[in-house]
Amino acid sequence: MSRIRKIYLDEKEIPKQWYNLAADIKTEPFMSPDGPVPPEAWAPVFPMNLVELEYSTQRWIDIPEGILEILSRWRPSPLYRAYDLEEALGTPAKIFYKNESLSPAGSHKPNTAVAQAWYNKQFGIKRMTTETGAGQWGSALAFACALLGLECKVFMVRVSFDQKPYRKLMMQTWGANCVASPSNETQAGRTILEKMPDTPGSLGIAISEAIEAAVTDKSGNTRYSLGSVLNHVMMHQTIIGLEAKKQLQKAGIKKPDVVIGCAGGGSNFAGLSFPFVYDKINGAEIEIIPVEPASCPTMTRAPYVYDHGDTAKMTPLVAMHSLGHSFIPPPIHAGGLRYHGMAPLVSKAVTEGLMNPLALHQLECYEAGILFAKTEGIIPAPETNHAIAAVINEANKAKEEGKEKVILFNFSGHGLMDLTGYDKYLSGQLTDYELPENIILENLEELKDYPKPPVGK
Ligand SMILES: Cc1ncc(COP(=O)(O)O)c(C=O)c1O
Repeated sequence: MSRIRKIYLDEKEIPKQWYNLAADIKTEPFMSPDGPVPPEAWAPVFPMNLVELEYSTQRWIDIPEGILEILSRWRPSPLYRAYDLEEALGTPAKIFYKNESLSPAGSHKPNTAVAQAWYNKQFGIKRMTTETGAGQWGSALAFACALLGLECKVFMVRVSFDQKPYRKLMMQTWGANCVASPSNETQAGRTILEKMPDTPGSLGIAISEAIEAAVTDKSGNTRYSLGSVLNHVMMHQTIIGLEAKKQLQKAGIKKPDVVIGCAGGGSNFAGLSFPFVYDKINGAEIEIIPVEPASCPTMTRAPYVYDHGDTAKMTPLVAMHSLGHSFIPPPIHAGGLRYHGMAPLVSKAVTEGLMNPLALHQLECYEAGILFAKTEGIIPAPETNHAIAAVINEANKAKEEGKEKVILFNFSGHGLMDLTGYDKYLSGQLTDYELPENIILENLEELKDYPKPPVGK
């Protein structure tokens, strides 16, 4: 056995600081009708220690020891070389992936869930609320809250709640309370249900419910938590890319040629790619590809605008690529990629030409996931399949060009709780869906009087 398949880091080699891309890319301020939103305005929603991180433009931020201690249960995650996928494709490309599916909840999401729960606990908060799409984020926060002794309430997008009963059971096992969204528990949920009783729900609606549940709690001990999109979430996830850099060096590789991640709100993609975006800003030649579903094409077909982060317009305006806060994506099985917006830092990097976003249809993605399962052995989450399909395209391109490219991607999660989606694919019940232009235009109409962010370079 001369070849090395997994590159490990010792526990002591875990990165001790997060990278903050906000030091190197300037995003636009959150806006309210009164102008830019000051940090204090977030006080009812997030604990102020996290708000401080959200507004920080410091490049390197120390990771508190208490967080490292919990992360060490599964971190550093191994970097795998996908020899068998390479062989099946007959590509000269070297394919590497960070295996984030090894966390207790099965995805990258605990990296920020643990950090957020820890900061909330430090601030004296007793209960956290959140939304979840695929159920990965909800279960990650439930896990983190269990370890830190906090209560947890999760609003789960209806379509995923019905498709993924085992995710709900994971949350309950960790002691969280999980309800289908829209629910009757909030004004936001009741209003939507009155208008659309059969709605599959959306992340935008679930976010409205979770924020409302936090800010209306009279005890003052509840705060809301978001599993993606915000700067501090992107920052928490950069531990993935920082580990990957060290691991590639151990494998004798100076830099990857291509970095790929699937993108819902942008956090797993950002987590892997931002440390490489830093290198790119400083002159390295790296192609960086966020991959989204063709049915929810924020980066490839939606403009860079100011929009609300949620359907009921509870959040301030955020400068990002957005399909409009009322956009309800079709119920594709990659539930975690059904968000109307994209992280401000990812959006800004796209407008500045630092990334080349790609949209793919779900059948191609499932086909890719199944090839991965048959070669590398792990069944990927449907979200992760989007990254794998893009990796396969790049590996095939490298074959045509006869180039030995290094391709690095984030294996954001396993699909063991997502087998209903595989069942539908394998029994021929899934189809591709091309989002009609008029639906995008109709949803964007609502934003026409909002302020416009300055466009990038
Ligand atoms: C496995 C997996 N990958 C990717 C995503 C997309 O989210 P984000 O873009 O925040 O990483 C999700 C979201 O739930 C997920 O569960």
